[in-house]
Amino acid sequence: MMTTSALSEPVALAGMSLSSQFVMAPMTRSQSPGGTPTPRTAAYYRRRAENGVGLIITEGVLIDHPSAGHETDVPRMREAAWRLVTDEVHAAGGRIAAQLWHLGSQREPVDGVRAWTPSAVPEAGRPGTHAMSGRDFPVLLDAYARAARAAVRAGFDAVEIHAAHGYLLDEFLWPFTNRRADRFGADRAAFPAEVIRAVRAEIPASMPLIVRFSQFKERDYAARIAETPAELGAILVSFAAAGADVLHASQRRFWEPAFDGSPLNLAGWAKRLTGLPSITVGSVGLTRDFVGSSRMTELLDRRRRGEYDLIALGRVLLGNPAWVRLAGEGRLDEINDYRKADEDRYW
Ligand SMILES: Cc1cc2nc3c(=O)[nH]c(=O)nc-3n(C[C@H](O)[C@H](O)[C@H](O)COP(=O)(O)O)c2cc1C
Repeated sequence: MMTTSALSEPVALAGMSLSSQFVMAPMTRSQSPGGTPTPRTAAYYRRRAENGVGLIITEGVLIDHPSAGHETDVPRMREAAWRLVTDEVHAAGGRIAAQLWHLGSQREPVDGVRAWTPSAVPEAGRPGTHAMSGRDFPVLLDAYARAARAAVRAGFDAVEIHAAHGYLLDEFLWPFTNRRADRFGADRAAFPAEVIRAVRAEIPASMPLIVRFSQFKERDYAARIAETPAELGAILVSFAAAGADVLHASQRRFWEPAFDGSPLNLAGWAKRLTGLPSITVGSVGLTRDFVGSSRMTELLDRRRRGEYDLIALGRVLLGNPAWVRLAGEGRLDEINDYRKADEDRYW
């Protein structure tokens, strides 16, 4: 039987000490009326920190620009409200990173504001978008910088830039959505790297800057930003040069190889190509019998061998806030299988 200590040993990540190797993956909850997190938000995150999660990454927090997002109950970087959240997480011995988000083409024009994208690529069933012009770039860089500054003031331990899943920064990385003829098209990593640089300049040198990226898009699971490790390396090395300290490689199933010819997953390649620590994620613990299974052994073994540094948990933590603790203590009968309905519940 696994013991608590097997799952909850303290670890260090980019100079930050964490109570365990487990991360809460960023998950949009849409529970912040008018963009302001509430005391319930604080209690929700605190509960995960109290139960063995070493690092919480918040749901996507919209940067302060009208094009960033349309939903009014998705949080924005409201300092005082987030201070309550960070205080609660810290009181429980946890650490917390703010995820900074711009939806790119996925912003709905419900209030007449068109989505901002690298190129105005028509997509079936989607409204037309605004291809960013030269003067738009400094505007968004400033919005990212202000969000980073506010995150520091709100007491966050780290910042994560969302450059995954087919939202704005990922749309620069993805050849399908980036058809630009200028330098942001010639080097698809250029704008995301500028965002990283802008955020890095606003946060203390000792504060970890995490960048989340993916091959897949929510609207196209087969999409890729890089066909080869060399192509991925070019992107990630420029992220590292711009000031990224940690790479969070989003994939849907952690055990799947990122490229033919090697069992390494995406987080494994990120670490190998850059030397930076990495976070893996993808379908951990979705059923009770995951705990103690060969998949679980594989998850921990890959980490022990140095393929990645931390393990992010998404959906399992919605229905099982105490999964890390219960799994470590072998209390399987108290663990629930993941149900889709958990995504709409909030506690
Ligand atoms: C309800 C829900 C909301 C999500 N919101 C975000 C988000 O705001 N930012 C992000 O980077 N990923 C988001 N994701 C993706 C998760 O962070 C995670 O990568 C994904 O759920 C896979 O991990 P899992 O298999 O452990 O759930 C979301 C996932 C879910 C289920």
